[in-house]
Amino acid sequence: MCGIVGAVMHGQARRFLLRGLSALEYRGYDSAGIAFSDARGLRRVAAAGRVDALRRKLKNAAGNAGIGHTRWATHGAPTEKNAHPVVAGNAAVVHNGIIENHAELRAELSAVGRIFRTETDTETAAHLLDTALLEGDDILTAVRKTAAKLRGAFALAVIAAGRAEIAFARNGSALLAGTGEDGAFVASDARALSGASRIAVLEDGDCGVLRADELKITDAKGRTVSRRMRPPPAAVSSAQLGGRRHFMEKEIFEQPRAAAAAVNPFTDGKRILTGRFGRGAAAAFREAKTAVIVACGSSHHAGMAARYWFRALGLPCRAEIGSEYRYCPDPEAKDALAIAVSQSGETADTLSAARAAKASGAKLLALVNAPDSALAREADFVMPANSGPEIGVASTKCFTAQLAQLLVLALACGKARGCLPPRIESAAAAQLVSLPGALRRALMLENGIKKWARELSAARSVLYIGRGAHYPLALEGALKLKEISYIHAEGCAAGELKHGTLALVDKHTPVVGLAPGGELAAKTAANLSEVAARGGRLFVLGEGGQNALPVPDCGEWISPVLYAAPLQLLAYHVALRKGEDIDKPRNLAKSVTVE
Ligand code: M6R
Repeated sequence: MCGIVGAVMHGQARRFLLRGLSALEYRGYDSAGIAFSDARGLRRVAAAGRVDALRRKLKNAAGNAGIGHTRWATHGAPTEKNAHPVVAGNAAVVHNGIIENHAELRAELSAVGRIFRTETDTETAAHLLDTALLEGDDILTAVRKTAAKLRGAFALAVIAAGRAEIAFARNGSALLAGTGEDGAFVASDARALSGASRIAVLEDGDCGVLRADELKITDAKGRTVSRRMRPPPAAVSSAQLGGRRHFMEKEIFEQPRAAAAAVNPFTDGKRILTGRFGRGAAAAFREAKTAVIVACGSSHHAGMAARYWFRALGLPCRAEIGSEYRYCPDPEAKDALAIAVSQSGETADTLSAARAAKASGAKLLALVNAPDSALAREADFVMPANSGPEIGVASTKCFTAQLAQLLVLALACGKARGCLPPRIESAAAAQLVSLPGALRRALMLENGIKKWARELSAARSVLYIGRGAHYPLALEGALKLKEISYIHAEGCAAGELKHGTLALVDKHTPVVGLAPGGELAAKTAANLSEVAARGGRLFVLGEGGQNALPVPDCGEWISPVLYAAPLQLLAYHVALRKGEDIDKPRNLAKSVTVE
């Protein structure tokens, strides 16, 4: 969840580290810190809150070797004291992940006189490192011995007083190393390695050491290894606001282009191109007895909507929450196509669910926006979303890209299994290529949405209702609102409302109804009437009489994708009116790499 970065440079490391931390803030922004090491010893500077707060505190602190961290708190409050780097004696460590046996280690280390100064699990690693260094180990041996004592998923970068070198270890949390003219580097994400000319994705069990002119990597058995070095991805130039107020706003309006990038490789507008999924994919689609979609948050909502498409096209399908799936044995997994959906490809809960499905014999397809991610590397087949970087914590363009790609995938599975009549194939393919234009028109509802936002921003609680593949869109609309405006919201299957949630409806509870045309329209209309009859204030997207905003009708297959756009705009404008921190909502992080 946290971001870590380290550099040993010929010149000063400070600017590289700060730039890297800014790039990593999407992983957590509770606190930030940097420690430098040189012949004079260790110098640590940390601040609660954002990297900007750290930047102001750093003043003249500098050095050629340093490690930095941006935190999403798990153990210990997000205070300056608990910020990383965590120092014990001559060792300073930055850590991403969770040390599951921290309580045992803390007891053992306390028993031999080690004094703990933070509430973090990380401090156990710092003491283990300092102990090894005191016993005369070099920094690489110290990190290797420490890693061997830790249980859980982690990535570590370590400096020691008096040494211009950094040791690192990876086990279950992403870590990359890089080299360049200015020095050698390590970070949780390639976007923090902008100064490197070559980078390598490390593997679990890897440990290593960086010096200004050297990168040494050892594998789980301690053998020196070389990992594939490649140029870093092009600088993330689209990660600029481009005249918009927030990344979320920018990303909402990038959806037409992102949808085209997601869909175009897989259709020519008449057919679904099943050959584009990689060797063996068509056979896997044909042979699967079921599909199980594992994902979290918005990606899970995309999976829930897709379930309707897979079933309609003849493949039994379930959508499971990543954090639950792993602990609920799945007897169907061995004959299943497991589809892991994740923008980041690093979500720990999704990763572990995908691994569990694969271990049970499922073929794994990863639908990701990060082709270098752990999920993509572990999958049998990869569908890259090609959405470009999504910086706002609230998922927008990646959510619609996921939905569109899941529709493509459901159609491809139907085709491979002989369950996709040509008439449906050509209609759905035509709808897919019309998606960018339709999204553009859906985004033109913004003025009407702003009016709704005026009323919703005063609400204490908002309900969202929908039926069929639009029910998960109701869940998504509610999640978006909660996430960035801090107004309580709940998504509900429209037909389920009368089984309990309807009791919440009164004139103070706005109800956002998703009411597309089609075979469920009359039933949804009846549910909206039930709300109106009880004094509920209705805000209808689709066909709903008064106070309704008509979402473009571009065919039933892509309809749910189009509903995402006004729902995102609604959450955005409510949060804007409330003056909330839209791109970095409290308590959250963009990439959730702990379970
Ligand atoms: O990177 P992932 O798609 O795996 O992330 C999953 C969720 O954490 C994510 O969708 C989250 O729910 C979003 N912040 C919602 O806007």
